[in-house]
Amino acid sequence: MLLKGLLGLAPVFAAAFAGTPVVLWHGLGDTCCNPLSIGGFTSYLERELNGTKVLSLKIGSNFVDEMKNSYLMNSNDQVAEACKIIREDPDLKNGYHAVGFSQGGQFLRAVAQRCRNPPMKVLVSLGGQHQGVFGLPRCPGSSSTLCEYTRKILDYGAYWSWVQNELVPAQYWHDPNDEQTYANKSIFLADINNERVVNQTYRENLSKLEKLVLVKFGADSIVQPRESSWFGWYKANQDVAVSDMEDTALYKEDRIGLKTLKESGRLDLLEIAGADHLRVSEKWFTENIINRYF
Ligand SMILES: *[C@@H]1O[C@H](CO)[C@@H](O)[C@H](O)[C@H]1NC(C)=O
Ligand SMILES: *[C@@H]1O[C@H](CO)[C@@H](O)[C@H](O)[C@H]1NC(C)=O
Ligand SMILES: *[C@@H]1O[C@H](CO)[C@@H](O)[C@H](O)[C@H]1NC(C)=O
Ligand SMILES: *[C@@H]1O[C@H](CO)[C@@H](O)[C@H](O)[C@H]1NC(C)=O
Repeated sequence: MLLKGLLGLAPVFAAAFAGTPVVLWHGLGDTCCNPLSIGGFTSYLERELNGTKVLSLKIGSNFVDEMKNSYLMNSNDQVAEACKIIREDPDLKNGYHAVGFSQGGQFLRAVAQRCRNPPMKVLVSLGGQHQGVFGLPRCPGSSSTLCEYTRKILDYGAYWSWVQNELVPAQYWHDPNDEQTYANKSIFLADINNERVVNQTYRENLSKLEKLVLVKFGADSIVQPRESSWFGWYKANQDVAVSDMEDTALYKEDRIGLKTLKESGRLDLLEIAGADHLRVSEKWFTENIINRYF
């Protein structure tokens, strides 16, 4: 009897540990492993997923470096570095799910588009800026000096080439009053959103996701406009009225595969009503993400 019971249990354990690994990417001004933010979230996920591997991306050699890089390291180089870490990790070779926090959301989307090997299965973006931002009303993270510096420079010249090359938020700065300059000069976001040319690889690779889950924070005071988390953007030549994703050219022309994903039931838009930026509870995440998608 006892033996039978144990044998009966064995497959349950085996299944529990064979879960799909999860890769995390933190936001602006944060680091991979701060116990008060992503480090704590990592422990929670490992517990909740019964020991499944969780990798929180570390771009930089130490805490200070990492935080600086989140502001100052070229996004394209950061994405390339992330691709390398993911590609070289043997635990991820059969694929992984990804969870991006704030700018980590669009960075992981770039990973899906540019270097889908190994394959990313489900991408969850929490408060990402997929159509960019126009304004930086408040900064997350712990460096108020870097934040003030960033804000001032963005006001002056987000598209100046040295700013583009050296300031991360400039690389997803999107001026709705000057779409053409954005399309021509943005070295990161305009590229992954296929604003200059349609890179079919980007579209094909993004369309291969099993699921793209975009989470918007209903009372987000950092992402401006908050609809950017759902690929919404300002209507032309003004910065008040916002179009839903379905009314943007990016979607209608299916430039990066959003329409393909939506029409095959693989694009989910979730909102955490009344919540400010990244205010996601473990309970919400377990019920709405882990139980549904992982
Ligand atoms: C983790 O294990 C618990 C208890 O066996 C189970 O209820 C839960 O579904 C497992 N979670 C996952 C994500 O496998
Ligand atoms: C499309 O993206 C891939 C992956 O980043 C790149 O290798 C290729 O050169 C790009 N093609 C065009 C036309 O930009
Ligand atoms: C994604 O694009 C790259 C080119 O950068 C290509 O080598 C790779 O095979 C594509 N991945 C998939 C899963 O199609
Ligand atoms: C953007 O690039 C196009 C094509 O090179 C050019 O015709 C146009 O004048 C540029 N516009 C701006 C505002 O930079």
